[in-house]
Order: sequence, then structure tokens, then C-alpha cells
Amino acid sequence: MGIKIGILGLGTVGAGTVQLLLDNVGRHPLLKEVEICRVGVKSLDKPRTVELPVGIITTDLEAIVTDPQIDIIVELIGGIDRARELILKAIANGKHVVTANKAVISRFGAEIFTAANQAGVYVMLEAAVGGGIPVIQPLKQSLSVNRINTVMGIVNGTTNYILTRMQTEGSSFDDVLADAQQLGYAEADPTADVEGWDAADKIAILASLAFGGRINRDEVFSEGIRQVSKTDISYADKLGFVIKLLAIAKRCSPVSPSSTPTLSVRVHPTFVPKTHPLASINGVYNAILVEGEPLGQVMFFGPGAGAGATASAVSSDILNLVAHLKSRQNSDTNSHLDPLLACSHQDYCQIAPVSELEARFYARFLTRDQSGVIGKLGTCFGKYGVSLESVVQTGFQGELAEIVVVTHDVQEGKFKQALDEIRTFEAIHSIPSLLRVI
Ligand code: NDP
Ligand code: HSE
Repeated sequence: MGIKIGILGLGTVGAGTVQLLLDNVGRHPLLKEVEICRVGVKSLDKPRTVELPVGIITTDLEAIVTDPQIDIIVELIGGIDRARELILKAIANGKHVVTANKAVISRFGAEIFTAANQAGVYVMLEAAVGGGIPVIQPLKQSLSVNRINTVMGIVNGTTNYILTRMQTEGSSFDDVLADAQQLGYAEADPTADVEGWDAADKIAILASLAFGGRINRDEVFSEGIRQVSKTDISYADKLGFVIKLLAIAKRCSPVSPSSTPTLSVRVHPTFVPKTHPLASINGVYNAILVEGEPLGQVMFFGPGAGAGATASAVSSDILNLVAHLKSRQNSDTNSHLDPLLACSHQDYCQIAPVSELEARFYARFLTRDQSGVIGKLGTCFGKYGVSLESVVQTGFQGELAEIVVVTHDVQEGKFKQALDEIRTFEAIHSIPSLLRVI
């Protein structure tokens, strides 16, 4: 029996999710179990980028969250009040929920998760922080055996894009913002992003998971990037820093068996040393650094927004719920293992022989200092179809001249054939280095 889902919203993330779920070949086999029953939108007249059978799209979102056939509701309409209302109604009707809505979860998480626990359903939110970056599930599972001391990151792509351009171009905040809006990187109303509110929603969620307690969103300090000037960025650069909008949650009290920790949770523009792992996260990318005991530091990096990336995170939550529902459906048979924990592979993959692979190569030759050696190398590479990106004579090692070659993409077998012939040249002393170039 398939798992029926209802999707609320067919905008950037909704359409990306539908597209991913319909185009399921080569993805986890359980995605084939997903059946999109209804999709809720505001307007039926809008042109859509995904094709769905007639009758699936509706403006009656109440009918979706109360539909007795539907197992999972995927909330992708954004906003706060209507989203909260629909999520709570879905839970009251016994549906599991997947949402990308950090604004609603950071403000109404307590109400929503209490209702979900009472109803015996799950609310999943991988896409709410870091777009496509898997960080919620790792914090809930793989990292949760650690005592987390710090979670900090760049969790807003719009502001990181603006700060990166201010830094690389020496432009002002207003100029870059206007350009970012024109290019579609910043929303028409960028307030939540530039004031740090979006990042504050996200760090509230991360802190709650990392430190095992609820976070009152109103207590999260946030300062945006409007006041960051190109002069500050230039001084930061001279002093060995970059300015980043960091979202930070830190433990302030010692670990105690009897009380939840005291935390510092905040968002503000920050001088980050150029050597810090977060300093090189540029453009619309996000990264989250988690520091715990005994693990030490791990960093999650990737696209923090966008249709495909966010759809990946939404669909991973759907997959987890499908696995849960399928293992319950199968609980009275002997195939009751959790399909995400059990190995389901049966067939071997074909591994292409390395000689057939295409790659770029770096080779260093030591040659006798004779005329025409570079020409001979070039002719021989040409004979085997090896195209050279660069050839440099770098100097001498004693009596021997050193020549370095970098190729374009070439079949490894052909490159090796050329080298075999080159080794026979009287002028070639040796080929001490041969490395692949990514
Ligand atoms: P969009 O504005 O692109 O899409 C919203 C969709 O919801 C539209 O299809 C719209 O219908 C529908 N909708 C909105 N309000 C209502 C309503 N009251 N009743 C019925 N339908 C409604 O939003 P996004 O896809 O960008 O974002 C969705 C969620 O994902 C948000 O919570 C956002 O914060 C989150 N998110 C977004 C990311 C991104 O890259 N965009 C990244 C990570 C999270 P219609 O099409 O008819 O207008
Ligand atoms: N506005 C958000 C950002 C989208 O710029 O990161 C992803 O949540």
C-alpha cells in the first residue's frame, strides 16, 4: 500500500518537492511508495512549472489536512498564522507533518510539538534550517550522544551574499541589496533576512535540538547587517578578519544532571578571523559548525536555499516518515525491519575500469637539457589524443631540466600509453611525479 501525502504550497519549494518526488528513478526506492494526493495553493490561475493530474491542485487547504486518506501533510506555504492553523489541524487529524517553516516552528514549536506528541504523530523540519544541508537529523541522532557546547553558523544566504559582495567589490550595503533583489537573491521585502530575524528563527531551532530544551524566540538577540559599512569591511580585512552574520548558540553553564543549561543565543554581524572555518563560506552558501564532547568540531556546508536543495531536505523527511509508516504496515510480517536501518541492496554496481576514466593529470619530467624536448613531449601527447592545458619548464635539478605538464580531461589509458612512449626518449631521465587533477 502506498503512502499518501498532501502538499500545502506549490511555490519554489513545493514545486521543487513535487518534481523530485515524481522523478524518483535513481533515488531511494521507498520514494516510489509516495503518492501525491492533493496539492493546495492560493490561486488556481497561476502557471505552474510541474505537471500534475487534473483535480489534484485545490485552493481548499482545509480539505487536504482533514482528508482521511492522507498520511502526511507537507506544509510549504510559509507565513505564520495560516501555516500554524493548518499544521495544528493536520496533527489533530492524525497526520504526520513535514514543514520548511522556521518562522512558525521557532515561535509555535512548543504548541505544535506538544500537540504532535499527544496525537502520536511526528513533525519533521529538516528544510527549516540550512535549506538542503542535513543538520536537523544529525543533531537529533548522530550528534546527540555528544555534550554540545556550541552551535554556530551562517544560516542566512541573502545576508551572506550581500556581505560577500561588499567584501569582494568594496560596494555599499544599499547598492548590493538593490542588485541582489534584481538578481532574485534577495526577496522584494528583505527585512526578515537583513535584520537577522530569519537567522534568529533558525538558531532558536538549532539551539533547541542541540541543548535539549525549548527556546523562547523572543529571547533570541538579533542584530542585522544594515549598519555594516564598507569601511568596517575594509578595516576587518586589514586586521585579518571578514565580517559575517553569525547565528550563535553557546552553553554558558556547566553540564548538570538536574537542570537544562543556561545558553547564550544570538545573531549579529561578527568579525571572524580569516583562518576560521566559517570565514570562507561565501555567497548564498550556509554552514553550521557544531562543537561537542567528545567529538570536537564538525561543519555542515551547502546550499541554504533554492528549489532543488530545499526539496532534498523536505523529501528526506518524507522518506523518513514513509519508512516509519511502512515498517508499521509490515509489523505483523517478517519484513518488519526499519527500511532505512536495514540494508536493502541486492545487486552489484558496475565499477568502470580506471583506465577508461577521464581525468586531468599533472606530470613532472626530469629531462636532459637538450633542444626540442618540449616539442617532442607535445608531439607524443598529441599522437595519443592528450590535450595539454599547460607546459612549463620550471628550472633545473642539478644537470636535469624540470618540465611540468597539466592535461585537459583525457582517458587514463591513452595518457599512460603516451607516457610509456615518452619514457623511451633518450632525453627523458625520469618522470618522478604523476598526479590526478580534480
Ligand atoms: P513561495 O512563496 O514560493 O510559495 C508559497 C506557496 O504557498 C505558493 O504556491 C502559494 O500559492 C501557496 N500559499 C501561500 N499562502 C497560501 C494560503 N494562505 N493558502 C493557500 N496557498 C498558499 O514560498 P517558498 O516555496 O519559497 O517557501 C515555502 C516555505 O519554505 C517557507 O516557509 C520558507 O521559509 C521555506 N523555505 C524556503 C526556502 C527557499 O529557498 N525558497 C528555503 C528554505 C525554507 P500560489 O502559488 O497560488 O501563490
Ligand atoms: N531567506 C532565506 C535565506 C531563505 O536567505 O537564507 C532560506 O531559508
